[in-house]
Amino acid sequence: MTNPFQILDQPAIQPKTFYIETFGCQMNAHDSEKVIGTLQHEGYRQVQDEAVADLVLYNTCSIRDKAEQKVFHRLNEYKRMQGEGKKFAVLGCVAQQEGAKIFERAPYVSLVAGSASYRNLPEMLRRLEAGENRITGLDDRQTDETFDTEFTARSNPHRGYITIIEGCDKFCSYCVVPYTRGKERSRTSESVLAEARRMADVGFTDIQLLGQNVNSYRDPSGKMSFAEVLGAIGEMTGVRRVRFTTSHPRDFTHDIVEVIDAVPAVCDHVHLPVQSGSSAVLKAMQREYTREWYLERVAWMKAAKSDISMTTDIIVGFPGETEEDFEQTLSMLAEVNYDGVFAFKYSPRPNTPAVGMAETVSEEVKSARLNRLLEQQRERQRVSYARHLNTTMEVMVEGYNHQRGQIAGRSSQNKTVNFTTQQPILPAVGNYVNVKITQTFPNSLVGEMVQ
Ligand code: SAH
Ligand code: SF4
Ligand code: F3S
Repeated sequence: MTNPFQILDQPAIQPKTFYIETFGCQMNAHDSEKVIGTLQHEGYRQVQDEAVADLVLYNTCSIRDKAEQKVFHRLNEYKRMQGEGKKFAVLGCVAQQEGAKIFERAPYVSLVAGSASYRNLPEMLRRLEAGENRITGLDDRQTDETFDTEFTARSNPHRGYITIIEGCDKFCSYCVVPYTRGKERSRTSESVLAEARRMADVGFTDIQLLGQNVNSYRDPSGKMSFAEVLGAIGEMTGVRRVRFTTSHPRDFTHDIVEVIDAVPAVCDHVHLPVQSGSSAVLKAMQREYTREWYLERVAWMKAAKSDISMTTDIIVGFPGETEEDFEQTLSMLAEVNYDGVFAFKYSPRPNTPAVGMAETVSEEVKSARLNRLLEQQRERQRVSYARHLNTTMEVMVEGYNHQRGQIAGRSSQNKTVNFTTQQPILPAVGNYVNVKITQTFPNSLVGEMVQ
């Protein structure tokens, strides 16, 4: 069939296609949603097969392990896909970290850009289309700008992210983020609230505020504190849940606990990475707080009216960590009683101060400590999740496990709840239903939907 809009004798313009793969944290996942939205606005169409894409983008993470090596390995696979007019782009934290070195090792890559430069993406795309093949966007710590775009291709129609603060100024001694994500810079509360409003208007009920240190948020217009932004979004018509991640202990203020208590939509969950239970290790990590400082914030949360669920990140085997230091981390986990722990073996990263410290903990000891920690934590969660037995909680429906005949959802505390229903019609994804808990596990709850 001919296209009535096609001018005779000229072929229809085929949209260019792109393929993107994404690694790393939620900030990276959300950056990709914004990159996809931007590309679509520029006339590109997303495809799920890299072999047929005109532009292949790889959004990378360099937080741990040999991230650079993994990226170059993957780029080697891209090499085999080279073809007429096909372009490759490397984005994200490895792009920022390795910069133009990527062109030397993978000459078929035409664009290398870190997250602090994505706001220039439309211009970079035009240069790419004009045939330039050494384009860099490596703004790093020079910029005060954030990547605000109305063209965000959100992958979930009910739950969506808003990045309210980018970058990091903390410079923990082990971490690449201040170098890969640039300077700490916040969006105005006005622009954050406007985005939340637009999302609520089109049906998003669960909004997650993001930042490497989300609670370090500083409204450039000076109008609102972080807790006030949380509260204002929680009170918007249509918003049922507001989450926020990741919180930094140094900037964790009491008004955050107050807003969790005061505004029902602000979720009963705080992810507060402690990294270590030993003040000596925290000092070497340059975390800017002590064990006591951290525990004071935990005490605020325990004293709240809401049952605030706490989760954390831990690094084991940091240079200088003694058996005694490690035991202080174990005792920290016992004292706080976390509902979830993400624990990692220390991994030396390029350009960070800790890379120069002698590694005093062997790989074997790191693994042994990690296993001990995870084992104890699993047992603790088995006990702590059991507190929900026979209680009824509100659950947002996320999907179905047809094989097990269960519906999967999530509680305000961010716990996974798998449940069944006697109703002939299953609740739709995105709905909120009440579930009575009939069985508990260390990482999930099982129940039955109730009216
Ligand atoms: N801004 C957050 C953490 C962001 S990075 C905070 O300060 O709490 C996510 C997690 O990765 C960190 O909490 C830390 O536990 C882990 N991590 C970062 N660098 C690491 C490294 N070099 N080795 C091992 N784990 C690391
Ligand atoms: Fe990394 Fe520390 Fe910044 Fe967190 S606060 S992103 S761990 S430098
Ligand atoms: Fe990775 Fe960069 Fe996020 S290093 S964890 S993608 S900030």
